[in-house]
Amino acid sequence: MFSCFRRVVAAGLVASTTLAVAPAYAQKSKKKAVLPRKTIEQRVDSVLALMTLDEKVGQLNQYTGDAATGPAFNDPNKVEQLRTGRIGSMLNVKGAQRTRELQAEALKSRLKIPLLFGLDVVHGYQTTFPIPLGEAASWDLEAMRQSAHVAATEAAAAGQHWTFAPMVDIARDPRWGRVMEGAGEDPYLGSEIAKARVLGFQGEKLGATDAVMACAKHFAAYGAAQAGRDYNTVDISRRALWETYLPPFKAALDAGAATFMNSFNELDGIPATGNAYLQRDILKGRWNFPGIVVSDWGSIGEMVAHGYAKDGADAALKAITAGSDIDMESRAYSSHLDQLVQSGQVKQTLVDDAVRRVLRKKFELGLFDNPYKFSDVKREKAALNNPQHRQIARDVARKSIVLLKNEGNVLPLAKSAKNIALIGPLGKSKLDMAGFWSVNYDSTTYVSVYEGLQNKLGKQATIRYAKGCGIKGESQAGFAEAVQAAKAADVVVMAVGEAYNMSGEAKSRADINLPGQQEELMEAVLATGKPVVVLMMAGRPLTFAYTAEHAPAILYTWWLGTEAGNAIADVLVGDYNPAGKLPMTFPRSVGQVPLYYAAKSTGRPSQNDKDTNYRSAYIDQVNSPQYAFGHGLSYTQFEYSNLKLSKNEVGDGETFTASFTLTNKGKVAGEEVAQLYLHDLFASATRPVKELKGFQKVMLKPGESRTITFTIDKDKLSFYNNDLQWITEPGEFNLMIGSASDAIRLEQKFTLVK
Ligand code: GLC
Repeated sequence: MFSCFRRVVAAGLVASTTLAVAPAYAQKSKKKAVLPRKTIEQRVDSVLALMTLDEKVGQLNQYTGDAATGPAFNDPNKVEQLRTGRIGSMLNVKGAQRTRELQAEALKSRLKIPLLFGLDVVHGYQTTFPIPLGEAASWDLEAMRQSAHVAATEAAAAGQHWTFAPMVDIARDPRWGRVMEGAGEDPYLGSEIAKARVLGFQGEKLGATDAVMACAKHFAAYGAAQAGRDYNTVDISRRALWETYLPPFKAALDAGAATFMNSFNELDGIPATGNAYLQRDILKGRWNFPGIVVSDWGSIGEMVAHGYAKDGADAALKAITAGSDIDMESRAYSSHLDQLVQSGQVKQTLVDDAVRRVLRKKFELGLFDNPYKFSDVKREKAALNNPQHRQIARDVARKSIVLLKNEGNVLPLAKSAKNIALIGPLGKSKLDMAGFWSVNYDSTTYVSVYEGLQNKLGKQATIRYAKGCGIKGESQAGFAEAVQAAKAADVVVMAVGEAYNMSGEAKSRADINLPGQQEELMEAVLATGKPVVVLMMAGRPLTFAYTAEHAPAILYTWWLGTEAGNAIADVLVGDYNPAGKLPMTFPRSVGQVPLYYAAKSTGRPSQNDKDTNYRSAYIDQVNSPQYAFGHGLSYTQFEYSNLKLSKNEVGDGETFTASFTLTNKGKVAGEEVAQLYLHDLFASATRPVKELKGFQKVMLKPGESRTITFTIDKDKLSFYNNDLQWITEPGEFNLMIGSASDAIRLEQKFTLVK
């Protein structure tokens, strides 16, 4: 069973046993090349010149294979369409053997153009890593690059050429279930992470067999869906688009992302897939993107439902004109594009440009030379879930854990703890550790919290499990057993949160409380007076006011993947000192949403939670979050001191530095993510009260001090003016160094002079 796949009858796909030989025009890698190797562009031109219009349209047509990740058509003759060159790429076909079979069918076509295989390898192929929002909490770019590289290595051994990741949508509304797939609320952090993930997936150059094409998605502003309701309307200013939602896409493009995927939402009244401003003016025009734009599942055909296209033909016309190259699963192109070209409504050059983009990637991947190079059964066996990959997954999982609270130093667990009660519906769960987008869920490869504790402490402590209640549902039937287990224990570990399918695509929640009776279970267990450590496991920021107030220790562990239990145990006993920082604001209540740190001052700013009289505040809730963007504690303490700016007056275009001393004042080594924020105090457009402009993650031994230096250049002082020009304006700035967005430890003003 796959967590995000609804297994459908394999839609007319039958395995064929014959494997075709490589196509005639492929350059034989064995023979010494006699003629100078044609450039890729020349090879693209030579193939394009041979193609009929039908074959060109075929290259722009993408069907799903053995599973569906959207509303699926049941198309009985896909193999026939493969054999006649009507399909250029497929998604949801997994495994070296299976991809070889279908590749062989495609190579029976007249021109033997190889097929591309794409899959949502979002946080791992077989070895599963923390959900991307969890990984973002590590603020460890190298760890995230490594994670993506392991995913690519496994996927590329199992027939995949293309992952539909990284999802780089900025999201500031935890009601939206897809926050789990991204990097949170901040454009700067999101951009840095986008780069790391693209490099991890693609490596230095496409074509290596430990790399796959990345896909920056969903272009654009999908995360700004009104009310956090998936697929809902997006209606934001051009400033918000450029300032907040586009930067991670530009970062992904600059890192070489081979493909982009457009989004389901409309933007300012025009669905993204038919939005020429997004795809032609910005992406392929101003940014000069040379790669492929693939539609999201059915998004071209959905323009009819949007009320933007009259029918399928109109949808195809609007999509190809606006710059959508491949049609994923809507069949608008395969049904209408040839007539649109023949009738002159669509220029042949538009189709040719789209086909070129597809052929170019197939050449860059080396598929024309060897269509089976990524479908390698031997390499697949060696790569999937191997010990090295699992060790990396455990390391990335540990780094993703955020210590939200630790009163009375309940954590790390005392080695003397002999009786541990593990209570809660996620204590023995494995599927929930996989998250919504796991593509190869195999329970035997997962380590639950219970197993992780047994592995770590089983020889010296008794670990008793009591479920207490379900993740959902109203029953409290298990409370008595749970309370009894707590009373008999030295310490209680609670494992609570969301099920794997409560965050993810089409999983928006209007109420983001800890679901079911879990908070009531918490209350009953806390009433025993035993020391309680809470593991909060979810795909999004949850609200859990009672727990936040009454539990002495809380670790936010997201959904950590294959090695979840071992990583959590490492942190619980102090073998790893947690250093995660929140990539997204945690509201106290859903009524505060959208709540994010880079907010505007307003004309009546509330200076603190008590300052509410004629202020921008509520009468029934404070403004401050439960936990702020950038928040995360450690088992040690860090001191920030001695801030020095190399200039207090900065000329336009000049660079200057901000240095300070960071000291580990505690008894254990630990990592700290020091954050640089800037506030442009006055400008021709209002500026956020703080914006993240840099961060450094530093490991310090007990007592160790280090000088940390940030370099501030013109780009960090720039913003979009009312004409959307990226400019600087003279004036005063406040420079802040923080351990969180709401924990500014040092600050100093400086002036930008013309
Ligand atoms: C889904 C998602 C997209 C995914 C695609 C293929 O609907 O929106 O992120 O890559 O379809 O599964």
